[in-house]
Amino acid sequence: MESDLKKLVGIEIAKRVKDGEVIGVGSGTTVEAALEQIGARIKNEGINLRIVPTSLQSAWKCQEMGLQVLSPGYYGELAWCFDGADEIDPKLWLIKGFHGALLKEKILVSRSKRFVVIADESKLVQKLTQKFAVPVEVIPEARSSVERDLAAIGAVSVKLRLVSHTCAPVITEAGNILLDVLFKEVLASTEKEIKSIIGVVESGLFIGYTSEVIVAGKTGVYSLFPKN
Ligand code: A5P
Repeated sequence: MESDLKKLVGIEIAKRVKDGEVIGVGSGTTVEAALEQIGARIKNEGINLRIVPTSLQSAWKCQEMGLQVLSPGYYGELAWCFDGADEIDPKLWLIKGFHGALLKEKILVSRSKRFVVIADESKLVQKLTQKFAVPVEVIPEARSSVERDLAAIGAVSVKLRLVSHTCAPVITEAGNILLDVLFKEVLASTEKEIKSIIGVVESGLFIGYTSEVIVAGKTGVYSLFPKN
């Protein structure tokens, strides 16, 4: 069922890509479903797309689907990018980073004119941290001081992310660790407060970046836009 919904948002994204475009591509299973649909258009219509990836996973999937992969350091402008999310609240604030690619994902968003989020309805929540903690990417040497400083800004639980069934920390593509953090409440200031802590590289809170969310649900595919 969930995979059918991912396919539906994928079809919608595939309709929107234009021949000759350079776009940013996020990471995760919803993005993979969208890339399958874009791949079908490349095969059937011979369109040409160049993409800037946010992870090895998305770079490899894009190559498999026939998209031309540019360096993540590509210097040009990006008209738009698309990516999934773990939680989306009514203000279209997001938690991202379950797959650990939050750093490059946020860099991509900051350099794209439009940020389109794709999701199935299960990602819509009334309040952030309903199902997922906020991932915070941290320089390994700074773990203890970052944990102390997160508590000082209202964190109520901080867990080091481990590789499943081991006691080894997950290491991101940038060589950092991830802390999964729960806050009493996520406020408009929380993203900036996290970022101000020495040793924090980035967080998976995306506050105020979303241009549109394309949602697939029981009633079909629809869009949500931020209210001003
Ligand atoms: C990757 O680091 C994430 O930000 C993903 O975009 C997010 O976890 C959604 O992933 P799925 O599409 O697999 O649910």
